[in-house]
Amino acid sequence: MFRETTMRELNTSPVKMIAEDWALLTAGNLSAFNTMTVSWGGVGELWGKDVAFVFVRPQRYTYEFMENSEYFTLSFFGGEYKKELGICGAKSGRDVDKCKETGLIPMAAEQAVAFAQAKTVLVCRKVAFQDIDPKGFIDPSIMDTYAAKDYHRMYVGVIEKVLIAE
Ligand SMILES: Cc1cc2nc3c(=O)[nH]c(=O)nc-3n(C[C@H](O)[C@H](O)[C@H](O)COP(=O)(O)O)c2cc1C
Repeated sequence: MFRETTMRELNTSPVKMIAEDWALLTAGNLSAFNTMTVSWGGVGELWGKDVAFVFVRPQRYTYEFMENSEYFTLSFFGGEYKKELGICGAKSGRDVDKCKETGLIPMAAEQAVAFAQAKTVLVCRKVAFQDIDPKGFIDPSIMDTYAAKDYHRMYVGVIEKVLIAE
């Protein structure tokens, strides 16, 4: 069971939540969705709203779902399910059924899909995207991340609902 809360009531570091514990980024609906592990991204405020930022390389299967969906979710597991998140971050939904492989149970979360085992779910409405442009790299070492020139697309989502497991 989940109850609604707000970003301000989450007493955990967003850096720990994303960078250390990782998250599942999911787009689509229950009849067709895809999920993948993310550890880059953030939450904050933009254009007067609480937002989440995620960064998706164009070759990800999830990219197609991000492009075609108005909503996406971020599911956080608080450091548990690292093995499962490792699978979702190594295999593609083009090749495997990630839910079957991991035992993660998809559930409707408003207009989107999240996972029953999550501790926290952010339901986000996609409001903007921007492709990373290497012309803006001031530190040249950033380029090391892009040997294949597969620059991420950044999506900005307004956080419409914060769900926490009870
Ligand atoms: C810990 C971890 C973090 C990741 N973070 C990102 C990320 O922020 N953006 C991204 O595009 N890929 C990221 N990936 C890679 C994708 O999760 C991976 O390529 C996945 O298999 C894509 O699945 P899909 O093809 O079903 O979308 C990460 C992988 C791991 C293991």
